[in-house]
Amino acid sequence: MTDRVSLPQTPEWQKLLELRQKPLANLSTLFREEPSRARRYIVGAAGLVLDYSKNLVDSEILQALFALAERAGLRDATAALFRGDEVNNTEHRPALHMLLRSPGNAGAREQEVHAALTRLEDFVAKVHTGRWKGYSDKAIRTVVNIGIGGSDLGPAMAAEALAPYHVRNFTCHFVSNVDPLHLEQTLAPLDPATTLFVIASKTFTTLETMQNANAARAWALTAGVPTTELGKHFVAVSANVEKAAAFGIAPANIFPMWDWVGGRYSLWSAIGLPIALAVGMDNFRELLHGAHQMDEHFRISEPAANMPVLLGLLTYWYYHAYGTESHAVLPYVQNLHLFPAFLQQLDMESLGKQVDRDGNKLDSQSGGIIWGSAGTNGQHSFHQLLHQGTRLIPADFIAALESHSSNREAHLHLLSNCFAQSQALMEGKSQMQAHAELLQQGTPAAEAQWLAPFKVCPGNRPSNTIMMRRLTPATLGALTALYEHKVFVQSVLLNMNAFDQWGVELGKVLSSSVYQALTAGSSCTRFDASTNALINMVRDNG
Ligand code: F6P
Repeated sequence: MTDRVSLPQTPEWQKLLELRQKPLANLSTLFREEPSRARRYIVGAAGLVLDYSKNLVDSEILQALFALAERAGLRDATAALFRGDEVNNTEHRPALHMLLRSPGNAGAREQEVHAALTRLEDFVAKVHTGRWKGYSDKAIRTVVNIGIGGSDLGPAMAAEALAPYHVRNFTCHFVSNVDPLHLEQTLAPLDPATTLFVIASKTFTTLETMQNANAARAWALTAGVPTTELGKHFVAVSANVEKAAAFGIAPANIFPMWDWVGGRYSLWSAIGLPIALAVGMDNFRELLHGAHQMDEHFRISEPAANMPVLLGLLTYWYYHAYGTESHAVLPYVQNLHLFPAFLQQLDMESLGKQVDRDGNKLDSQSGGIIWGSAGTNGQHSFHQLLHQGTRLIPADFIAALESHSSNREAHLHLLSNCFAQSQALMEGKSQMQAHAELLQQGTPAAEAQWLAPFKVCPGNRPSNTIMMRRLTPATLGALTALYEHKVFVQSVLLNMNAFDQWGVELGKVLSSSVYQALTAGSSCTRFDASTNALINMVRDNG
């Protein structure tokens, strides 16, 4: 533990709190007063444009936020991250996911990365050309990725996001949950002769993945794959070659992972194998390229022009000066519908901690709750709370100028809805407006008077809009890296290690003793009364 001054106690933060007390004109007024605001608060890089003009900030607040970042040592922390310092100090590791997408080939690690990419490339080519055959000499047509958390969410999100780039006559499935139906339902329509399993686990010890991998092997054997031919249907991605080999995967078919890549930052490594199989290696390399462009943008741009820094500072501003609890991510691109779920792990596993990197209890809130879903679906569901609920929930809208579909009309409806949502959140509707509108519609005066308050939307609700020309492998790479670095910025402001996740351990350990109790000979009395009763309910049920 150290006696480092934490950010909330610094004069830079006190200054921000003072600014928070001063009434800031509402957003609509700010735009009226300064028509150039929309042009001023916009930055672009790596094929993305961030419009952050609809945020509760002015230039004085932004300058104060930049000073806060300086005070937090963001510049040095970023340099340390890219240099490969031991930023994951509880596990004594660097966090070098940026190396996985760097074209550089100078160091030993880079060379390993490039060698692994070449192996991946060879393998993908063999599968796609049919040179890799199943036990009955048929080409592989289906891949089932078995993994969880970072070994599932990133690849599943990216494979889905890049659906327009999918290799023809080839399908990818993702099984993560230990609920047996997840695997069983996925496998039911599949032909074992043309199915390849990728067992993706950095540690190769994760219970869910091991359970599903064993069940998949049993399925293949039952379906007629000879034991001696199983190797044609199972490959692995892991940092634990010994365990993967013990499972029965030939070392030549185990693709590497490294301890300096965190699970939730690993889609760029061989963990991205299902992405490469789904969209081809050229597109996978484009994904890496887009992310690398964002890395460079983050590494060298000044804070005022730096997208991850701006997003991180704005979120910090809302969490800590406005007491917001959550942040909504609303992609108006259907293929990004898994992006919020991916971000939940990225952000909440990285920032959901109660002590700083020195072990001191945080004297502010940790990271918050990330949630959202693809627009326009959310509009007919939870957007009501965004517009009229009592909580302030900042939101990120994500949209593309062009669709992969030729239905321009529908795409323009999609964009209209996206822009109208951020506009509505900002402008809201006053009681007077609602009342006037009702009268105009011919509502009787008494009814209009009564109904108007229900229609009030307070407005002045902040949002960012992130635009891209199209969702391509490169823009997806940039978008994903943008959020990775945003999370890093927040971690620096919190003086937190973003790269460990000790909190998930307790549940894992307890689940193994609960499992023992569920399968033991006598009724359970060893836990608390509620847990005992739940366990005994299962036991009594046979
Ligand atoms: O849920 C905890 C976690 O450790 C994640 O951080 C990780 O992505 C996931 O489990 C899967 O781990 P592995 O790749 O080792 O199976």
